[in-house]
Amino acid sequence: MILQEKFRQLELEGSALLATNFYNYETLLGVLKAASAMDMPIILQTSPGTIHYLGVEMAAAMARAGLKAHGVEGWLHLDHAESYDMIKECLDAGYDSVMIDASEKSFEENVDITSAVTELAKEYNANVEAELGYVAKLGQSHQKEGFTKPGEASEFVKKTGVDALAVAIGSAHGFYKKEPKLDLELLKTIDDAVDCALVLHGGSGIPADQLQEGIRRGIRKINVATEIKDIFMATLKNEISSTDNIDLRQVFPPATEQVNRLVQKKLAIIKQA
Ligand code: 13P
Repeated sequence: MILQEKFRQLELEGSALLATNFYNYETLLGVLKAASAMDMPIILQTSPGTIHYLGVEMAAAMARAGLKAHGVEGWLHLDHAESYDMIKECLDAGYDSVMIDASEKSFEENVDITSAVTELAKEYNANVEAELGYVAKLGQSHQKEGFTKPGEASEFVKKTGVDALAVAIGSAHGFYKKEPKLDLELLKTIDDAVDCALVLHGGSGIPADQLQEGIRRGIRKINVATEIKDIFMATLKNEISSTDNIDLRQVFPPATEQVNRLVQKKLAIIKQA
């Protein structure tokens, strides 16, 4: 089933997909083990940074092979792309879904750039996600507010034909200094105004009850990245500092296992929504 169809199914069921970023074989493996253990579908995403690191062919092949080997239903998604060329490269390599992030440009520019991507994606029958509003990226201020406006969201979705829209409702990428509080009223109003799947970026550190209420109010995709990197690296550092073992096939698995546990917890939150 293509991702656009899956989103329509989730809309009827009132459920969502977890979208996890992976960075290397070990983080991918942790995610796949979790999805397999929970028997739940998953979106595997790579940022442009991961594409630069792994190469697009390797990223796509690893994800595909991993889904098959672990018997997991899943989709491969390009997260936060700003370049049309990279989007085309990923679609050519077999990505199911792409995000064009022109959220820091003007509304009109965002519409134009996103529309070019939706046109391109039609040739591949691929899913397109865009972003409207200010969701702080890593290192950007959490103070600045630029929540998505329902009227603009409606106009944006009609003009661009996107399948999924990332909304700014109080989440941010990276860890939070204080507990985030999503504007769930606004989320419901946006959901009533648009006819597409809504996406929550910055899923790390958002309490389970808010994620679940978010799903009830229209979120169909929840992105989690920072917590994966954090648990993986913290565990790995611990392993490395407590052993002289150079057999990396024995040093990496505890870190992969922690990713597995973390992702299972996130999937359980979605299952129980
Ligand atoms: P976190 O890194 O805050 O989990 O956000 C992930 C994300 O939204 C990726 O696009």
